[in-house]
Amino acid sequence: MPTIHLPTIETARLRLRPLLEADIPAHYAVFSDSDVARYWSREPWTDIVQAEESIKAILAAQADGSEARFGIELLSTGELIGNVGLHHFFGSNRRCEIGYALGSRHWGQGYATEALRAAIRHGFEALDLNRIEADIDPRNIGSARVLEKLGFRKEGFMPERWFVFGEFADTVNYGLLKRYWDEA
Ligand SMILES: CC(C)(COP(=O)(O)OP(=O)(O)OC[C@H]1O[C@@H](n2cnc3c(N)ncnc32)[C@H](O)[C@@H]1OP(=O)(O)O)[C@@H](O)C(=O)NCCC(=O)NCCS
Repeated sequence: MPTIHLPTIETARLRLRPLLEADIPAHYAVFSDSDVARYWSREPWTDIVQAEESIKAILAAQADGSEARFGIELLSTGELIGNVGLHHFFGSNRRCEIGYALGSRHWGQGYATEALRAAIRHGFEALDLNRIEADIDPRNIGSARVLEKLGFRKEGFMPERWFVFGEFADTVNYGLLKRYWDEA
Protein backbone atom coordinates (compact mmCIF):
# COMPACT_ATOMS: atom_id res chain seq x y z
CA MET A 1 0.00 0.00 0.00
CA PRO A 2 1.21 3.57 -0.61
CA THR A 3 1.88 5.92 2.31
CA ILE A 4 -1.33 6.60 4.20
CA HIS A 5 -2.19 10.26 4.67
CA LEU A 6 -3.44 10.54 8.23
CA PRO A 7 -5.62 13.61 8.70
CA THR A 8 -6.43 15.33 11.97
CA ILE A 9 -10.06 14.68 12.88
CA GLU A 10 -11.99 16.51 15.59
CA THR A 11 -14.98 15.01 17.37
CA ALA A 12 -17.05 16.61 20.14
CA ARG A 13 -14.38 15.99 22.82
CA LEU A 14 -11.36 14.50 21.05
CA ARG A 15 -8.74 15.16 18.43
CA LEU A 16 -7.47 12.17 16.41
CA ARG A 17 -4.09 12.97 14.89
CA PRO A 18 -0.86 11.34 13.74
CA LEU A 19 1.46 10.24 16.54
CA LEU A 20 4.76 12.13 16.95
CA GLU A 21 8.09 11.43 18.61
CA ALA A 22 7.07 13.99 21.25
CA ASP A 23 4.28 11.58 22.28
CA ILE A 24 6.73 8.94 23.58
CA PRO A 25 6.18 9.70 27.33
CA ALA A 26 2.38 9.71 27.01
CA HIS A 27 2.47 6.58 24.80
CA TYR A 28 4.60 4.88 27.46
CA ALA A 29 2.11 5.87 30.16
CA VAL A 30 -0.69 4.10 28.25
CA PHE A 31 1.12 0.81 27.62
CA SER A 32 2.96 0.55 30.94
CA ASP A 33 -0.44 0.56 32.68
CA SER A 34 -1.14 -3.03 33.79
CA ASP A 35 -4.91 -2.48 33.49
CA VAL A 36 -4.43 -1.58 29.81
CA ALA A 37 -2.21 -4.61 29.19
CA ARG A 38 -4.60 -7.06 30.89
CA TYR A 39 -6.31 -8.14 27.66
CA TRP A 40 -3.66 -6.91 25.28
CA SER A 41 -1.57 -9.68 23.76
CA ARG A 42 1.62 -8.58 25.53
CA GLU A 43 2.99 -7.68 28.96
CA PRO A 44 2.91 -4.05 30.20
CA TRP A 45 5.95 -2.06 29.17
CA THR A 46 8.66 -1.49 31.75
CA ASP A 47 11.14 0.61 29.77
CA ILE A 48 10.55 3.85 27.85
CA VAL A 49 12.66 2.42 25.02
CA GLN A 50 9.66 0.20 24.24
CA ALA A 51 7.59 3.33 23.63
CA GLU A 52 10.33 4.85 21.45
CA GLU A 53 10.47 1.66 19.36
CA SER A 54 6.69 1.50 19.11
CA ILE A 55 6.40 5.11 17.89
CA LYS A 56 9.17 4.46 15.34
CA ALA A 57 7.35 1.33 14.13
CA ILE A 58 4.03 3.21 13.91
CA LEU A 59 5.62 6.01 11.83
CA ALA A 60 7.33 3.44 9.56
CA ALA A 61 4.06 1.52 9.12
CA GLN A 62 2.28 4.72 8.22
CA ALA A 63 5.01 5.56 5.70
CA ASP A 64 4.80 2.14 4.02
CA GLY A 65 0.99 2.17 4.11
CA SER A 66 0.55 -0.84 6.38
CA GLU A 67 -1.09 0.97 9.29
CA ALA A 68 -3.13 4.09 10.03
CA ARG A 69 -2.84 4.73 13.76
CA PHE A 70 -4.23 7.91 15.29
CA GLY A 71 -3.22 9.35 18.61
CA ILE A 72 -6.29 10.29 20.69
CA GLU A 73 -6.00 13.67 22.40
CA LEU A 74 -8.45 15.39 24.74
CA LEU A 75 -9.58 18.64 23.11
CA SER A 76 -9.96 20.25 26.54
CA THR A 77 -6.34 19.75 27.69
CA GLY A 78 -4.32 18.49 24.70
CA GLU A 79 -3.40 15.36 26.70
CA LEU A 80 -2.69 12.24 24.61
CA ILE A 81 -4.85 9.54 26.24
CA GLY A 82 -4.47 6.61 23.83
CA ASN A 83 -4.63 5.55 20.23
CA VAL A 84 -6.74 3.78 17.67
CA GLY A 85 -5.31 2.11 14.59
CA LEU A 86 -6.45 0.51 11.39
CA HIS A 87 -3.96 -2.20 10.47
CA HIS A 88 -3.47 -5.49 8.60
CA PHE A 89 -4.86 -3.94 5.43
CA PHE A 90 -5.80 -6.43 2.73
CA GLY A 91 -6.19 -3.97 -0.14
CA SER A 92 -7.72 -6.19 -2.81
CA ASN A 93 -10.44 -7.26 -0.38
CA ARG A 94 -10.85 -3.76 1.10
CA ARG A 95 -10.60 -4.94 4.70
CA CYS A 96 -8.44 -4.35 7.76
CA GLU A 97 -8.38 -4.82 11.52
CA ILE A 98 -8.88 -2.25 14.27
CA GLY A 99 -6.96 -1.97 17.56
CA TYR A 100 -7.28 0.59 20.35
CA ALA A 101 -6.24 1.45 23.89
CA LEU A 102 -6.84 4.29 26.33
CA GLY A 103 -5.08 4.94 29.63
CA SER A 104 -7.27 3.50 32.41
CA ARG A 105 -7.84 6.91 34.05
CA HIS A 106 -9.94 7.77 31.02
CA TRP A 107 -12.13 4.69 30.77
CA GLY A 108 -15.89 4.74 31.15
CA GLN A 109 -16.53 8.17 29.67
CA GLY A 110 -17.40 7.12 26.14
CA TYR A 111 -14.04 8.24 24.72
CA ALA A 112 -13.22 4.93 22.99
CA THR A 113 -16.62 4.82 21.31
CA GLU A 114 -16.22 8.43 20.15
CA ALA A 115 -12.68 7.86 18.84
CA LEU A 116 -13.44 4.55 17.11
CA ARG A 117 -16.50 6.07 15.43
CA ALA A 118 -14.26 8.70 13.80
CA ALA A 119 -11.54 6.19 12.84
CA ILE A 120 -14.09 3.81 11.34
CA ARG A 121 -15.71 6.61 9.34
CA HIS A 122 -12.25 7.47 8.01
CA GLY A 123 -11.74 3.80 7.07
CA PHE A 124 -15.02 3.47 5.21
CA GLU A 125 -15.04 6.91 3.57
CA ALA A 126 -11.44 8.00 2.95
CA LEU A 127 -9.81 4.56 2.70
CA ASP A 128 -12.77 2.95 0.89
CA LEU A 129 -12.83 -0.13 3.11
CA ASN A 130 -15.70 -2.58 3.04
CA ARG A 131 -15.00 -4.51 6.25
CA ILE A 132 -13.26 -3.89 9.58
CA GLU A 133 -12.39 -6.76 11.92
CA ALA A 134 -11.59 -6.96 15.63
CA ASP A 135 -10.15 -9.78 17.69
CA ILE A 136 -10.84 -9.48 21.41
CA ASP A 137 -10.56 -11.52 24.61
CA PRO A 138 -14.12 -12.54 25.60
CA ARG A 139 -13.40 -11.34 29.17
CA ASN A 140 -12.74 -7.83 27.86
CA ILE A 141 -16.32 -6.72 28.39
CA GLY A 142 -15.66 -3.00 27.90
CA SER A 143 -14.05 -3.65 24.52
CA ALA A 144 -16.91 -5.90 23.39
CA ARG A 145 -19.40 -3.26 24.47
CA VAL A 146 -17.58 -0.54 22.47
CA LEU A 147 -17.66 -2.71 19.34
CA GLU A 148 -21.32 -3.61 19.78
CA LYS A 149 -22.28 0.05 20.32
CA LEU A 150 -20.63 0.78 16.97
CA GLY A 151 -22.52 -1.96 15.12
CA PHE A 152 -19.89 -4.71 15.00
CA ARG A 153 -21.34 -8.23 14.95
CA LYS A 154 -19.94 -11.24 16.74
CA GLU A 155 -18.78 -13.66 14.04
CA GLY A 156 -16.61 -16.30 15.58
CA PHE A 157 -14.73 -17.84 18.47
CA MET A 158 -11.16 -19.12 18.47
CA PRO A 159 -10.12 -20.97 21.62
CA GLU A 160 -6.62 -20.53 23.12
CA ARG A 161 -5.38 -18.22 20.36
CA TRP A 162 -2.94 -16.23 22.54
CA PHE A 163 -0.50 -17.15 25.31
CA VAL A 164 -0.03 -14.23 27.68
CA PHE A 165 0.40 -13.83 31.44
CA GLY A 166 1.15 -17.56 31.66
CA GLU A 167 -2.17 -18.70 30.23
CA PHE A 168 -3.86 -19.31 26.91
CA ALA A 169 -6.55 -16.78 26.07
CA ASP A 170 -9.50 -17.13 23.72
CA THR A 171 -10.54 -14.78 20.92
CA VAL A 172 -13.96 -13.57 19.93
CA ASN A 173 -14.01 -12.25 16.36
CA TYR A 174 -16.10 -9.21 15.51
CA GLY A 175 -16.77 -7.69 12.10
CA LEU A 176 -18.32 -4.49 10.81
CA LEU A 177 -19.38 -4.20 7.18
CA LYS A 178 -19.76 -0.85 5.47
CA ARG A 179 -23.37 -1.70 4.71
CA TYR A 180 -24.16 -2.24 8.44
CA TRP A 181 -22.55 1.14 9.10
CA ASP A 182 -24.55 2.84 6.33
CA GLU A 183 -27.79 1.27 7.58
CA ALA A 184 -27.26 2.35 11.22
C1 LIG B 1 -11.64 -1.18 25.79
C2 LIG B 1 -11.45 0.31 26.06
C3 LIG B 1 -10.78 0.95 24.86
C4 LIG B 1 -12.80 0.95 26.33
O1 LIG B 1 -12.60 2.34 26.52
P1 LIG B 1 -13.72 3.30 27.16
O2 LIG B 1 -13.40 4.72 26.79
O3 LIG B 1 -13.89 2.97 28.58
O4 LIG B 1 -15.02 2.82 26.34
P2 LIG B 1 -16.44 3.56 26.33
O5 LIG B 1 -16.59 4.39 27.56
O6 LIG B 1 -16.61 4.21 25.02
O7 LIG B 1 -17.45 2.32 26.38
C5 LIG B 1 -17.25 1.27 27.32
C6 LIG B 1 -18.57 0.53 27.50
O8 LIG B 1 -18.31 -0.71 28.17
C7 LIG B 1 -19.04 -0.77 29.36
N1 LIG B 1 -18.26 -1.55 30.32
C8 LIG B 1 -16.96 -1.38 30.62
N2 LIG B 1 -16.58 -2.32 31.50
C9 LIG B 1 -17.66 -3.09 31.74
C10 LIG B 1 -17.90 -4.21 32.54
N3 LIG B 1 -16.93 -4.75 33.31
N4 LIG B 1 -19.14 -4.77 32.54
C11 LIG B 1 -20.12 -4.24 31.77
N5 LIG B 1 -19.95 -3.16 30.97
C12 LIG B 1 -18.72 -2.61 30.97
C13 LIG B 1 -19.25 0.67 29.77
O9 LIG B 1 -20.34 0.81 30.66
C14 LIG B 1 -19.54 1.29 28.39
O10 LIG B 1 -20.83 0.94 27.92
P3 LIG B 1 -22.09 1.97 28.00
O11 LIG B 1 -21.72 3.18 27.19
O12 LIG B 1 -23.21 1.18 27.42
O13 LIG B 1 -22.27 2.30 29.46
C15 LIG B 1 -10.54 0.54 27.31
O14 LIG B 1 -11.08 -0.18 28.38
C16 LIG B 1 -9.10 0.09 27.09
O15 LIG B 1 -8.28 0.83 26.57
N6 LIG B 1 -8.77 -1.14 27.52
C17 LIG B 1 -7.39 -1.63 27.44
C18 LIG B 1 -6.93 -1.92 26.03
C19 LIG B 1 -7.82 -2.91 25.35
O16 LIG B 1 -8.25 -3.88 25.95
N7 LIG B 1 -8.09 -2.63 24.08
C20 LIG B 1 -8.91 -3.50 23.26
C21 LIG B 1 -8.11 -4.64 22.84
S1 LIG B 1 -9.03 -5.54 21.65
